[in-house]
Amino acid sequence: MRGRRSAIPTAAEEPGRYAVEMRGVHKAFGAVTVLDDVDLAVRRGEFVGLVGPSGAGKSTLLRLVNGMHTVERGSVRTLGTDPATCSRRGLRALRTKVGFAFQQFGLVGRLSAMENVLMGALATLRWPRYGVMSYPRALRVAALENLDRVGMADQRFQRCDTLSGGQQQRVAVARTLMQGPQLILADEPVASLDPASSALVLDILRRISREDDISVLCSLHQVELALANADRIVALRAGRVVLDEAADTLTADRLRTVYGTGDGTDG
Ligand SMILES: Nc1ncnc2c1ncn2[C@@H]1O[C@H](COP(=O)(O)OP(=O)(O)O)[C@@H](O)[C@H]1O
Ligand SMILES: [Mg+2]
Repeated sequence: MRGRRSAIPTAAEEPGRYAVEMRGVHKAFGAVTVLDDVDLAVRRGEFVGLVGPSGAGKSTLLRLVNGMHTVERGSVRTLGTDPATCSRRGLRALRTKVGFAFQQFGLVGRLSAMENVLMGALATLRWPRYGVMSYPRALRVAALENLDRVGMADQRFQRCDTLSGGQQQRVAVARTLMQGPQLILADEPVASLDPASSALVLDILRRISREDDISVLCSLHQVELALANADRIVALRAGRVVLDEAADTLTADRLRTVYGTGDGTDG
């Protein structure tokens, strides 16, 4: 592995520098190669936008980072740990430090925003809770604070199935913050939202990433949103990294060219 084309120093050389570190990752489902020799690193506190058309391998890559899939070849380090080789208990411990945000939000619709956020702390509690008042006061205070950080404190008692998509995703972000994550993996978190809500959700994620020094790896298919919010852009096409660059030196036109669809929409 020494002397690979990648200029990324290894974790051993610089421990703690990376939240995510993938080297030479190869992933296939049956005979179909989905990720091919992928190198990718997310520095601590960095916001990396992962772009690429449908089927490029973005969701698969995020699942490898979270230990939901394992690689055939290559290595994955998530917060310094290999999710594929750690024990079940180790994986559980790792996942408490890794927040996940999906396109589908994953909230319980019939429960209030507050209760959904509180559920983000369930891993720290020893038994299930029913109703906001069954949670310890410190957690209720933390939940309200996190709702406030995403601009949703006023709607804390509202059922989640009555909130707009953008509001639901903000609640989902607040829920993830209850874990005190060091890394947030977001899989097309704004794919089902209108442009204004998309911009707001990403702006909130980026601000929280800066304020709390949380690393973010976020897949997106809108080139402009990626450029506006990420520190760095990694583009995948057909399972290969075709671009890895600082966002501020990249233009939307060039990114679209690499993206391969010509108009930047999902292919
Ligand atoms: N569990 C699975 N079993 C078989 N094929 C899969 C599985 N998950 C993803 N794939 C395939 O892997 C490729 C990449 O999918 P995915 O990672 O979801 O891409 P993206 O998120 O960029 O749209 C697609 O061709 C998809 O059909
Ligand atoms: Mg996907």
